[in-house]
Amino acid sequence: MPRFDVLTLFAGYFEPLRTQGICRRAFDSGAVQLHTWNPRDFASGAHRSVDDRPYGGGPGMVMLAEPLLAALRAARQAREQAGAPPAPVLLFSPAGRALRQADVQRLAQSPGAVLVCGRYEGVDQRFIDRHVDAEISLGDFVLSGGEIPAMALIDAVARLQPGVLGDELSAQQDSFSDGLLDCPHYTRPPLFDGLEVPQVLLGGDHARIARWRRDRMLELSWRRRPELVLAMERAQRLDRDDQRLLRALRERDAGADDRQAPDPGYT
Ligand SMILES: C[S@@+](CC[C@H](N)C(=O)[O-])C[C@H]1O[C@@H](n2cnc3c(N)ncnc32)[C@H](O)[C@@H]1O
Repeated sequence: MPRFDVLTLFAGYFEPLRTQGICRRAFDSGAVQLHTWNPRDFASGAHRSVDDRPYGGGPGMVMLAEPLLAALRAARQAREQAGAPPAPVLLFSPAGRALRQADVQRLAQSPGAVLVCGRYEGVDQRFIDRHVDAEISLGDFVLSGGEIPAMALIDAVARLQPGVLGDELSAQQDSFSDGLLDCPHYTRPPLFDGLEVPQVLLGGDHARIARWRRDRMLELSWRRRPELVLAMERAQRLDRDDQRLLRALRERDAGADDRQAPDPGYT
């Protein structure tokens, strides 16, 4: 059962996780545990400062190493007293490696982690050098703190705990679980805004439906994330039907390669 000890100046961010939706179910059942530690509670001086100006000048503030270390020690001690096995210290940072579903799956089956949420310009590098095992990024953009990445990670882990999702199969069929993106989904009505539900999904032939879904997963992944398909191919995880579809997709691309079109962005 994963236990997360989160070092954060803003514990309030985590309340919605405890009280809403799927995560609430995970916390209520004890499938996941969450404890927060505020470095300010471990800071010294009249003002209990947790940040200071950067050496060398420049804008912004830097999180002090000492209150963070004191909070980390308290978290470790509490874990030990609760009989939780030792766990890695993970810092959220745009400079970290992007979080992947494989990391989430490993964490879901682990004793959890101590998560460090940065703020301001970031954390004094010496704390990172001495006490952080890995840095995790949520993507190539900058947030104002590590709390949202921490919530994202805990949510992703919580939904993988047995009994937390309504149907265990949902997690197995999600994007990245099997290495590919998920297929499109449809529900009632059968005709919406002039668009019909693909006929195969209405026919009740489970083998044909499974094949259709797999084909759409491959097709979408090939169009949007070809590296996922190439990795599956290298790992010899494509069956004969997959390989046949991939050959057809490659032939189609050889004619008109819209996969290579420049990324238009979101706006
Ligand atoms: C304003 S950011 C600091 C940005 C830092 N000066 C930089 O340019 O890389 C404050 C904190 O938010 C968190 N953060 C911001 N963007 C993130 C991202 N993409 N992934 C993970 N954590 C992030 C980190 O904990 C970071 O220390």
